[in-house]
Amino acid sequence: MAERVAVVTGANKGIGFSIVKGLCNRFRGVVYLTSRDVERGKRAAAELNKLGLYPEYRQLDVADRDSVLRFRDFLKEEHGGIDVLINNAAVANCRDLYNTYEENRYIVDINYKSILTMQELIFPLVRDGGRIVNISSDCGHISNVRNEYWLDVLSKKDLTGKEIDDFVECFLESCKNNTFKREDFADNGTIAAYRVAKVALSALTILQQKQLEKRNISVNSMHPGLVRTDMTAGVGFYDADEAAETPLYLALDAPDELRGAYVWYDRRALDWYDRHADYFFKTSTLQA
Ligand SMILES: NC(=O)c1ccc[n+]([C@@H]2O[C@H](COP(=O)([O-])OP(=O)(O)OC[C@H]3O[C@@H](n4cnc5c(N)ncnc54)[C@H](OP(=O)(O)O)[C@@H]3O)[C@@H](O)[C@H]2O)c1
Repeated sequence: MAERVAVVTGANKGIGFSIVKGLCNRFRGVVYLTSRDVERGKRAAAELNKLGLYPEYRQLDVADRDSVLRFRDFLKEEHGGIDVLINNAAVANCRDLYNTYEENRYIVDINYKSILTMQELIFPLVRDGGRIVNISSDCGHISNVRNEYWLDVLSKKDLTGKEIDDFVECFLESCKNNTFKREDFADNGTIAAYRVAKVALSALTILQQKQLEKRNISVNSMHPGLVRTDMTAGVGFYDADEAAETPLYLALDAPDELRGAYVWYDRRALDWYDRHADYFFKTSTLQA
């Protein structure tokens, strides 16, 4: 039987690093710590070595198609397939609540478009019965969206990938031509690109589940809570090791029936479609 393989993206620090740590302790198989920067990634792997944990290291910049292609070819050659994939890599700009068009595009490219590349190139390597976890955010709940047209589109049970892309592109277009309306999003449209990318990611998760159902693969998206990492400049109600527990649960322990769900940090599967829910991100929590 082929050796089992787990992959975590953006794992040189923060929650991704803690997920790798947890997998090294609990997953029976090879664990890949990946990072866009080789130095930072190798340093992180060396940190784990000091704890007696031995992940494999590979370079992977999820926003660089060539890097994903190289990683795909390596995995194919070395293992034939993988069993667990944690899409964790992301960027945010929580310091400036409103970003330039270039910043917004950068955030969307890494937090959403890279997932499309992973879907195209890495998902075919996920073995039947495998598990995929997309690390989303409270910014990824539909209640972050306030524009009625997009709420209706995103709520469609037969939502297509093209429609999710349109939602994202329409936002970027509005930033480019200065027609962006703050009232189209919760919290007066703060960190809008991050909200758009994560809403798109959680919507896409539901679609990915439908597509992978026949191969018995589970795909869930989750909000890890407000976590003390570089992303939040150290603000949060718990640390990265604690925040890694629910992604680890989804990858290793959750019942098989949990599929295509939007999962909160306390493991509850929430109704992603509840547009009136109070799950959206409030920047005031960063000052708390
Ligand atoms: N912290 C929170 O409160 C919070 C709340 C909700 C959701 N999340 C989500 O949780 C996940 C982890 O966040 P975190 O708090 O651990 O953030 P973090 O400490 O800033 O770590 C983010 C990781 O993603 C990597 N990354 C960024 N762009 C990449 C790319 N193109 N290719 C590969 N790796 C890339 C970063 O690498 P570099 O070191 O090279 O930049 C870093 O390793 C993210 O998906 C985030 O959106 C976090």
